Order: sequence, then C-alpha cells, then structure tokens
Amino acid sequence: MKLLAFAASNSSASINKQLATYAASLVEGAEIEVLDINDYEMPIFSQDRENELGQPELAQQFFAKIGSVDGIIISFAEHNGSYTAAYKNLFDWTSRIDMKVFQNKPMVLLATSPGPGGAATVLAAASGSAPYFAADVKASLSVPSFYDNFDIEAGKMRNEELNQQLRDAVFKLQPTS
Ligand SMILES: Cc1cc2nc3c(=O)[nH]c(=O)nc-3n(C[C@H](O)[C@H](O)[C@H](O)COP(=O)(O)O)c2cc1C
Repeated sequence: MKLLAFAASNSSASINKQLATYAASLVEGAEIEVLDINDYEMPIFSQDRENELGQPELAQQFFAKIGSVDGIIISFAEHNGSYTAAYKNLFDWTSRIDMKVFQNKPMVLLATSPGPGGAATVLAAASGSAPYFAADVKASLSVPSFYDNFDIEAGKMRNEELNQQLRDAVFKLQPTS
C-alpha cells in the first residue's frame, strides 16, 4: 500500500513530523512518502485572492497527492489550541477544489506537543470535522510530553504503552482489517 505521512506543521524541526514518520514506519510493507507542507506554501487564503488566482497549482498538487495514496497519517501540531496557520492555509485552499479533501482515504490522526496536553485540542477539532471532509478516520492518538515519551536519537517511541497504542492505531490502516 502507498502511505502518505505528514505533519500539520511547517517547522523544520517538527516533532509531529518525527511522530508521523515513525508511525508510518510501523506499517509493514507500506511504500511511505513523508510530505513537507512547506513545499505547498501559498499566499494566505482570501476570497479576493481566490478570485485572482483560482485554484493554485500547489493546492491541486496536494489534492492529487492525497488522491494517489491508499492511506494517510497526519500528526497535528497545536498552536494556541488550534491548527497551525500553515496547515490551515493549505487546507483552506485545497477545500476549495473539493470539500472532500481526504477523498475517503483511510486515515490515522495523531498529535503531539512537549506539554502534558499532547495537542489533544487540535486533534479533537481535526477528528470532529473529519467526516465533513471525507476522511475515513480509523484511529486517533495524542502523544503527551513528546520529549519524555519519544526517543529523538533513536527516532522511536520509548514509552511502551504509547508505542503499543500507536501500533494498534496504524494497524487499522491495513486494507484487510
Ligand atoms: C504560537 C504557538 C502556540 C502554541 N500553542 C500551543 C498549544 O496551544 N498547545 C500546546 O500543546 N502547545 C502549543 N505550542 C507548543 C507546540 O506544541 C510546540 O511548539 C510543538 O513543537 C509544535 O509542534 P511541531 O514541532 O510539530 O511544529 C505552541 C507553540 C507556538 C509557537
């Protein structure tokens, strides 16, 4: 299966990118692509700009990328209890191509932050709105206190209980389950 993984963050040192990348590596036999949303940066969405620009090529490429895979893992960074501006902008432009942004793809939604909240607020927002955007969400998981629970050097989870929860979550992406 082709699996797309990315962080809903534009940080070059994104902890959510580390989590999404590791989560994807747990899916046996998957062909993994880790996307960087910096490669899809566009002007801040406005209806005036939409009138001017139409559907930007980068939004079309992002939409096509989603359409080309069999499963998606997104890990959401939380900024002030919500999406990062970078992700929201990409999402808003893409939603104007088709509100069914996620094209009924099986998805696992993750989120992490350095604090004990584990970006659970943005994860709840993403999970709650997912059906409106044709996301077939198989599982979601918030990882609190990232630096305590994830071994950055080794690039994998050090908290065994969370690791098992992550394994269980991504297993649900397998077509047979
Ligand atoms: C503007 C801003 C707002 C933030 N707000 C929150 C927040 O509401 N909740 C939270 O858990 N962390 C918050 N953080 C800390 C982020 O969780 C932290 O920067 C994390 O590394 C972001 O994920 P990323 O590394 O994948 O970009 C905030 C950080 C910034 C820069």
